[in-house]
Amino acid sequence: MFKQLQLKWAVGSVKFFLIICTFALGGSLCGFTARKILVFTGFGGIVWMMAYSIIACLLWPLSVLLVSIPMGQFFFKQYLIKLFNKMTGNKDAASSQIAIFASGAGSNAKKIIDYFENNKLVTVALIVCNKLKAGVVEIAGQYNIDTLIIERTTFFNELTYIAELKKRGIDFIILAGFLWKIPTSLIQAYPNKIVNIHPALLPKFGGKGMYGNFVHEAVIAAEEKESGITIHYVDEQYDHGNIIFQAACPIIEGDTAGSVAAKIHLLEHLHYPAVIETILKSKIAVKTS
Ligand code: GRF
Repeated sequence: MFKQLQLKWAVGSVKFFLIICTFALGGSLCGFTARKILVFTGFGGIVWMMAYSIIACLLWPLSVLLVSIPMGQFFFKQYLIKLFNKMTGNKDAASSQIAIFASGAGSNAKKIIDYFENNKLVTVALIVCNKLKAGVVEIAGQYNIDTLIIERTTFFNELTYIAELKKRGIDFIILAGFLWKIPTSLIQAYPNKIVNIHPALLPKFGGKGMYGNFVHEAVIAAEEKESGITIHYVDEQYDHGNIIFQAACPIIEGDTAGSVAAKIHLLEHLHYPAVIETILKSKIAVKTS
């Protein structure tokens, strides 16, 4: 259970220990203060217990907050900012901060950025890329969006970049041509909050090695009459999570991997941003209701 919590919060062992200590000390402070307050009331028996429970519930968040400051674990910051924004009527309070993970040209990333540019409920806050020279990095620069370049060892073995995502308030991840398999740690940190687009009609033509033109070549070799796009949640297996949306296009005689890729890109650009908006709207509705 502790390991899962550590993954969810994306923190190392030392930080995790300090957070647990913060909760423990906050809890003790809360109990101590509640008892001190009740001494003055003279309550006893069941009334004492009821009053103690109520006071402890009210004091607990405050006590943990107080202890978190000297412990250097002020993990409520993002939550408090959101709460403050909500109370002051700042629309950003209900907004989703998304990160786009991409490895290549970034045409989908660009469409998504354009689509949400003036959207108050969704902000493309970060581009995560594993190649410094990828087209998507240039696109991020043009739009003044922060970029996080990630190395293989960090991505697969460390939690630091997940902590960085959390610190930046990222609450949803969009994969748009990101070629590395998503590690369990990231999936656990963002359960049901990572979405991918695959350039074929899953469950066909998915899995390891099925990316880019390999997919379209396989579709043509199988003499399929149609191909298309699949937008799906990401789980621990390649191209496997729950399907959210599919759209198809015909494969005609003489089609090449290049011509199929062009048709697929059209479908992706047309549908991916709008489908993301629908998903996020439903999440926002759940979040704020
Ligand atoms: C898209 O075809 C997408 O389906 C696949 O990778 C490609 C990325 O293209 N996952 P781009 O970099 O967005 O142009």
